Amino acid sequence: MDFYGKDFLRILDFSEEELHYMLAAAKKFKELKHTGQSHKVFPNKNIAILFEKTSTRTRCSFEVAGYDLGMGVTYLDPTGSQMGHKESIADTARVLSRIYDGIEYRGFDQKIVDDLAKYSDVPVWNGLTDECHPTQALGDFLTILEHFGKLKGLTLAFVGDTRNNVANSLMAMSAKMGVNFIACGPNHLRPSDEIIDKCQPIAEKNGSTITITSDIAELNGKADVIYTDVWLSLGEPQEKWGERIELLKPYQVNMEMMNKAKESTIFLHCLPSFHDLNTSIARDVNEKFGISEMEVTNEVFESERSLVFEQAENRMHTIKAVVFLTLHKKEAK
Ligand code: CP
Ligand code: NVA
Repeated sequence: MDFYGKDFLRILDFSEEELHYMLAAAKKFKELKHTGQSHKVFPNKNIAILFEKTSTRTRCSFEVAGYDLGMGVTYLDPTGSQMGHKESIADTARVLSRIYDGIEYRGFDQKIVDDLAKYSDVPVWNGLTDECHPTQALGDFLTILEHFGKLKGLTLAFVGDTRNNVANSLMAMSAKMGVNFIACGPNHLRPSDEIIDKCQPIAEKNGSTITITSDIAELNGKADVIYTDVWLSLGEPQEKWGERIELLKPYQVNMEMMNKAKESTIFLHCLPSFHDLNTSIARDVNEKFGISEMEVTNEVFESERSLVFEQAENRMHTIKAVVFLTLHKKEAK
């Protein structure tokens, strides 16, 4: 399996075997890291990581993955480069690919990262767009695999804003890995027909199902993993909070929902999460709408069933695997 020079733009671009290979590489890197074994294999390489939206996990994961692999890393924030306002994406890509060995991009339209890849001579990695969040799904599936020891046949339920970027990548990843996927949320926030139509035949081929429902009772006795995400994503207007809270309140992940699923059901969240009032946004929302916990209750978030911090750590190991595999030239036999 050879990923040298390839971009990492969306889960659907890769086969089941390729995704398994990436997970296996991530496992190896995790072991190396945990046992303190140096793996600075790219001392002469440098990568640029571009963020048009804010980030903690993805930025830190790319930075540490880069340093661990022995590379130089340049972080450009929304105000730190000419991209978009003074220089086109195409020109930026052509400049950066003369200087760097790989480029990460987080931003808005999927077309931007697709264009970056089109015009760049070096691998481009998608660190989140409005449409998808593929490195997230990879980290999540490493977490699920480590916990259950398998993927095929499990059921992952994404509850809440089921048409968002994280849900889209999880549907694609589930279909590829033979995991049953339930998108459970209000009809107003249904996944697009386009993504369902792409994933459905893949799921069928791999012996799994995709269920789109607005009924939380569909999770009862079925879901091995209950996954949620914020009710308003980066880049969406703050004025939408009221409408979203009304639509999504019935889909809050709480202990009652967890207990009705299975005794063994785990909770996942890509983070950041509004599970208490310890953030300024949560306090603003609380003042305006009187709600103190949003997509997940603090009880579930802090419970033993919650693997959210393992999941956050796995972002780094999986991102390292993607960066390594796409920059590593295999020796000719
Ligand atoms: N889950 C995730 O992508 O987190 P950041 O927005 O902090 O990168
Ligand atoms: N759906 C969220 C994911 C953050 C990691 C967002 O786009 O803000």
